[in-house]
Amino acid sequence: MATRFDSAGPLRGALRPPPDKSVSHRAALIAAMGEGETVISGYLDSGDTRSTLAAIAAIGAEVEGDGAAVTSRVRVRGVGLRGAREAAIDVGNAGTLLRLLPGWLAGQERGAWTLDGDESIRRRPVDRIAEPLREMGARLRCRDDRLPPLRIDGAPLHGISYELPVASAQVKSCLLLAGLLAEGQTTVVEPLPSRDHTERMLAAAGAELERGDGAVAVKPAERLEPAEIVVPGDFSSAAFFVAAALLVPGSDITLSGIGLNPTRTGLLGILERMGAEIEVEPEPAGGGEPSGRVRVRASELCGTEVGGGEVPLAIDELPLVALLACFAEGETIIRDAGELRRKESDRIASVSEALAALGARVEPTEDGMRIVGGDGLRGGIVDPRGDHRIAMLGAVAGLASGEGVEVSGMDAAAISYPGFEADLASLSRT
Ligand code: S3P
Repeated sequence: MATRFDSAGPLRGALRPPPDKSVSHRAALIAAMGEGETVISGYLDSGDTRSTLAAIAAIGAEVEGDGAAVTSRVRVRGVGLRGAREAAIDVGNAGTLLRLLPGWLAGQERGAWTLDGDESIRRRPVDRIAEPLREMGARLRCRDDRLPPLRIDGAPLHGISYELPVASAQVKSCLLLAGLLAEGQTTVVEPLPSRDHTERMLAAAGAELERGDGAVAVKPAERLEPAEIVVPGDFSSAAFFVAAALLVPGSDITLSGIGLNPTRTGLLGILERMGAEIEVEPEPAGGGEPSGRVRVRASELCGTEVGGGEVPLAIDELPLVALLACFAEGETIIRDAGELRRKESDRIASVSEALAALGARVEPTEDGMRIVGGDGLRGGIVDPRGDHRIAMLGAVAGLASGEGVEVSGMDAAAISYPGFEADLASLSRT
């Protein structure tokens, strides 16, 4: 199904973006690890997070509401740290589920599980978790020793100290979950800080965690008691509207209830350098995650350089930086972002191809992109090939383009943001 997005009048009004995908995945998994019932307020209802509810149900957690019946409040009765039932688990398109769940399962000695998913998930590497988990004593098998399906035979684990070769919140989280069931302490050393939702949620559930000096250590736990988890709005979903408002002349929008965890908001610093007019106002903290509102006005942008520690803090927003760079005066360089090649698509290739097809001067590099901006985008066709963030990028590009953009396969957006088109339209109408 092809959907057209034509150049639009100003975006105006207010919007509350959907709940955070990363936090929702963790909330469901940690609730399933808990004893008793956990209430998750603001659980995201999307393709990926439904996969996580289905996964925890398959291993024995009781989930109130499933599929379309999931409301924003989800109740989970956990199986406890060592009570997961054997199952063949379909992770769908969810890379976070694929990388986090094995950490918990690997140390449960009485079971065996397989994890598999869609065509895109079968290209996502799992050796990055398999290697350190094996060092801890885990028994894992995967295709070509690198790719799903992944088979886990529960085994006794021992704590290790592991230095991540690249910053990855998924690998860090996987090892922290495994550490809860291991003998002795497990320490994960990060080359650069990455999102810390797992650390915050585990600490709130009673796990013994120590953080500092680029490392996080977890002690074995007898039980977790998460009780209540509040999911903030998704900064990564809000970012599409931030970009649209910056690009469409005359726009002025306010986004509320957005998660503002500093390990997620690297985009704000990048945009500030590009000259964006953005005001951030924190809201009273409601759960373990900071949140607030963001006001964005259309702005004249200039090019910038993005690299180093900023990359993991903005990893899912870098495609939008590339889009904005097409409209920014001068050159933008994104480097140190080789991890983009291992997302739902090879996002260095897919973003460069999509933007080039719309008239951008963009050159993919080994670890990023180089964009010469200032001319905007002509328009054309974007095929997201199943990648939700490329579909939404195409839609935003359409609003700011000269001739409009046709996105084939817009339904991919439902992986993280089922109501995206309606929300975008609501800002264009007001
Ligand atoms: C995520 C971490 C990031 C991010 C992904 C979600 C998470 O991946 O790109 O969309 O929820 O932990 P990496 O940990 O592989 O960098």
